Amino acid sequence: MAKAKTVYSCTECGAQFPKWTGQCQECGDWNTLQEEVAPQKVAAATNPKAARFEGFAPKADVQKLQTVSVKGTPRFGSGLAELDRVLGGGLVPGSVILLGGDPGIGKSTLILQSLALLSDKNNTLYVTGEESAEQIALRAQRLGVQDADVSLLADNQLESILDVAVQYKPDVLVVDSIQTLYTDTLQSAPGSVAQVRETASRLVRFGKQTKTIVILVGHVTKEGALAGPRVLEHMVDTVLYFEGEQNSTFRLIRAIKNRFGAVNEIGVFAMTDTGLKEVSNPSAMFIKRTQEDATGSVVLVSQEGTRPLLVEVQSLVDQSSLANPRRVTVGLDNQRLAMLLAVVNRHAGYSLHDQDVFVNVIGGVKVHEPAADLAILLSVLSSYKNRRLDSDLAVFGEVGLTGEIRPVQRGLDRIREVEKLGFRRLIMPKGNQSGVKSKKLEIIAVNTLEQAVRIAFDQ
Ligand code: TYD
Ligand code: MG
Repeated sequence: MAKAKTVYSCTECGAQFPKWTGQCQECGDWNTLQEEVAPQKVAAATNPKAARFEGFAPKADVQKLQTVSVKGTPRFGSGLAELDRVLGGGLVPGSVILLGGDPGIGKSTLILQSLALLSDKNNTLYVTGEESAEQIALRAQRLGVQDADVSLLADNQLESILDVAVQYKPDVLVVDSIQTLYTDTLQSAPGSVAQVRETASRLVRFGKQTKTIVILVGHVTKEGALAGPRVLEHMVDTVLYFEGEQNSTFRLIRAIKNRFGAVNEIGVFAMTDTGLKEVSNPSAMFIKRTQEDATGSVVLVSQEGTRPLLVEVQSLVDQSSLANPRRVTVGLDNQRLAMLLAVVNRHAGYSLHDQDVFVNVIGGVKVHEPAADLAILLSVLSSYKNRRLDSDLAVFGEVGLTGEIRPVQRGLDRIREVEKLGFRRLIMPKGNQSGVKSKKLEIIAVNTLEQAVRIAFDQ
């Protein structure tokens, strides 16, 4: 027998190479090439299972753009308002959604809760390749949804799953997870890039042709043990990431790509003993401070999609014993912190070159917008100077390299949120002020970092 050909596939971008290299030539990522058996299609004639599903394709007709009838995108709610918000208003028939996230973050829990709510009115099919039906039933008991009308299928062979789906005609088909699926038409192991790509593309085709909502669950692992779902992102309509710190109860769901709605919208959940609970007013949760007026703590007015979010930023600045003092961030961009510390040195006169600086965003939130700059700096300085900031003070604003405070997006929404949560003072960029008045809130608009520092620390 001829030796099976091997190829090396990149787990990040899916590119294939005949030889192993440390870096993927296509996407530039390191250590992502995995050896696999070269994908050899078994001829359709010799594999009746493979041939069967080519049958449901309707004839492709050429249409004029003007004649395509658009009835508006019908959507139906997923049962969870926070999930609907991220989806852009609800599930769209025929759309394919990829739900990614670290193992154990709560993907299966979210899916089961949503399916239980959906099953009232819709036909749902939950395909589980990872867990047995008993395990799902146990989880359902824990979630209190054991009586929901959800159909389960414990299988991981694509052809037989599609067989069942064609007969069963679900409105919503969930596959948990895509990495456990395999098709007989390929020889490589489940979870390999080739299998993941092929099974996903067949499911996408099935969804489009039968107007079924297909939700694919995918794992992301740093070690690359399973093919990352990154290769799938191009194929699907919507990519959602479920994130959060393992030891925090908060879970954020974020749209990375959405053909039917805005991206960067977030939904917030809290993981409890009885499943995920929606958090409709996240700001109030993230800034539940245990210690009033601690040094190094500042409330930042951040923005996620269309939603302002108040989060607490904490810093610790401490004398360093290292030649290169540490700059450690959690939930923030490390490079940005280094840049901000340089700005503070030049334009506010505080040199932190011999100090370790640690900055953390509480609650496992990730803030990646420049509007966080001013809050980060005030928090760092509060720790450095050992001076508390008022607990009823909130801050937002971008800091430029020349020490100016630059306006940010959606200033008004942020101001309203601060007002709503009962803060008394807000330090913000002058450029965002434009005639905004508030009775309850003292708005302090600043132009420069120096001015902001002076006001914050009453100098
Ligand atoms: P799970 O949905 O299985 O994660 P994933 O499918 O993303 O791998 O969730 C696993 C974690 O959630 C597990 O550590 C236990 C926890 N959990 C709760 O805290 N409360 C609950 O009600 C449930 C069902 C799970
Ligand atoms: Mg799971």
